[in-house]
Amino acid sequence: MKPGGRVFHYNSPMSEFHALVPAAGFGARMGNELPKQYLPLAGQPMIFHALNTLCASPEISTVFVVLTPGDTIFHTYDWSRFGDKLQTLYCGGKTRAASVLNGLIASELEPDDWILVHDAARPCLTQAHLAKMIAELRGDEVGGILAVPVADTLKRADADGRILRTEEREQLWQAQTPQMFRAGLLAQALQQCSHVTDEASAVEAMGLQPRLVAGDSSNFKVTYPQDLLLAELLLTGGEKLLRSA
Ligand code: CTP
Ligand code: MG
Repeated sequence: MKPGGRVFHYNSPMSEFHALVPAAGFGARMGNELPKQYLPLAGQPMIFHALNTLCASPEISTVFVVLTPGDTIFHTYDWSRFGDKLQTLYCGGKTRAASVLNGLIASELEPDDWILVHDAARPCLTQAHLAKMIAELRGDEVGGILAVPVADTLKRADADGRILRTEEREQLWQAQTPQMFRAGLLAQALQQCSHVTDEASAVEAMGLQPRLVAGDSSNFKVTYPQDLLLAELLLTGGEKLLRSA
């Protein structure tokens, strides 16, 4: 594709869908010695839940998980239920963007293949939202992300922690993952723009406009200790509701 221009015709009917889960972070804000992707959550390490949802999708061919090269924890769990669909790549980098780019290169996907990048720390992604985003984006020229419209009133703070002004919340969205792009486009975007906290930012820097697919707030990122309880409730509450139905 031409940087800053329109995308070449990428819509090959042969394109496959793959997922890539960056899991090479430490979870500094969680403040636990065990990296947060391995903290116990609903009877499993946190990362299990995202991998389980992605592996259960009939449209996704492979789920790549990107680990830090020195990771000694991942292999201590039994992942055999996912078979060959789950592939581990020990090539995580210093930043999330570096982990995703390294993983993309190591995955050796075709440039036309779709890649859905999903945080290990978003364990509550539902199969319904995953299917919705694939359905809405599979014919798209650019790709897009799952996101939610901002619900709260937004305040801009000054250096003293006082309100400087109220920001317009119309048309503001919170970016989530998965973020779904063609593998070739995303690798090019991340090579050109490494100081980003999500994939869409790198694609935007090429002058392209990824689509927003409406999800909901249950797909939040587990970041602080208090987030664990909510995630646990959502994951186990769903099971209880199903059992009582
Ligand atoms: N991640 C990664 N490589 C990094 C940093 C982050 O693969 N160098 C992954 C994390 O493991 C996580 C996802 O990117 O699955 C989202 O990042 P975040 O929630 O910020 O996790 P951490 O960076 O581990 O947490 P913190 O920012 O609190 O340190
Ligand atoms: Mg981080």
